[in-house]
Amino acid sequence: MAGVTVLDAVRVRKDFPFFARGLIYLDSAATTQKPTMVLDAMRHFYETSNANVHRGIYSLTHESTEAYEGARKKIAEFIGASPREIVFVRNATEAINLVAQSWGAANIGKDDTILLTEMEHHSNIVPWQMLAKKTGAKVSYLPITELGELDKNAVSHALKQKPKLFSFTHISNVLGTINPAKELVAEAHKEGVPVLIDAAQSVPHMPVNVKDLDCDFLVFSGHKMFGPFGVGVLYAKRELLDKMEPMLGGGDMIKQVTFEGATWNEVPWKFEAGTPNVAAVVGLGAAVDYLQALGMENVWKHEQKLVRYVYDALKKDAVVALYGPESRAGVISFNLGDMHGHDVSTVLDQLKVCVRSGHHCAQPLMERLGVPATARISFGPYNTKKDADLFLDALQKAKKVFRL
Ligand code: ALA
Repeated sequence: MAGVTVLDAVRVRKDFPFFARGLIYLDSAATTQKPTMVLDAMRHFYETSNANVHRGIYSLTHESTEAYEGARKKIAEFIGASPREIVFVRNATEAINLVAQSWGAANIGKDDTILLTEMEHHSNIVPWQMLAKKTGAKVSYLPITELGELDKNAVSHALKQKPKLFSFTHISNVLGTINPAKELVAEAHKEGVPVLIDAAQSVPHMPVNVKDLDCDFLVFSGHKMFGPFGVGVLYAKRELLDKMEPMLGGGDMIKQVTFEGATWNEVPWKFEAGTPNVAAVVGLGAAVDYLQALGMENVWKHEQKLVRYVYDALKKDAVVALYGPESRAGVISFNLGDMHGHDVSTVLDQLKVCVRSGHHCAQPLMERLGVPATARISFGPYNTKKDADLFLDALQKAKKVFRL
């Protein structure tokens, strides 16, 4: 790789006990590995501060509540939001469902349009299809170009039709396409269209600031950003959250309950019914500390170098079909000749290289690309140039197995 490495991935890797297994892990778009700091934070919480949050007045419950709310503050700061604009959910999918079922049900009606793109994964399609089915609204998809990018004219045209919402992915989990989120939000707002950004693939890999983007909603998952499974984040502008109805009812989300009815707690707790996954939130707070110590610019630059290196090598190989634009995030979907992605992944697995294959939770996009599946590699800050070389070697071996 040319240039000076700004992030020492060999050192970063030492923070992740997982790598003791000796695997070449190239599936961070599906889920990331966890640093010791995150694992320790969760273990420490359970060993020393475990109590339910927002309940009870003994000191331990204060400690636990402070750990939970402290993590909310860190996460808010990380994306430039206020803590009151951060709602904890299970994952990005649940965050989109919450917006669809709460804000969507109140603001989207019969014959209204929900504007998506052809590069969305199922999480940003199915909740809207469900809402459309209930309300009689229509879901419409912005086409992508042959290179897998949005077409500016198509965006302008679609926004002029005044859809009720524009929801798009910041970075495609299949193509690696980086959508110009800030420009898209500005253009949508010019037409009075609110915007949801699916940032599951961007928040873990690049600096993201919701105030700078000016988006109305933004969602991401903890497990894709070096945190644990079971916690995700919905960011929404405070004025929107204040007006939205909760999706789930139960403890903690109420102000007062009588036999006749209930009134709601303030935001964000209005949306957090029942006992939350406190340890996971604490773990996600530690993941944010970890990422901040690495520096998001450094993470981005490092992954850019890796993806450039591998992409340029694959481009020279006539047997490899590549999908998506040249300029991309750390994700490469490819096919080897006419082999199914699963066969490629199975052979690579025997060489200790973990590569996802299949439709990547984006079946409509596969249909658009005209392929049943692809193999996909995706990077994290712990991937080294050696990983990249081992993958490229393994791919040559796979070609021999398939006689390509
Ligand atoms: N959407 C996730 C992925 O791309 C699950 O693997």
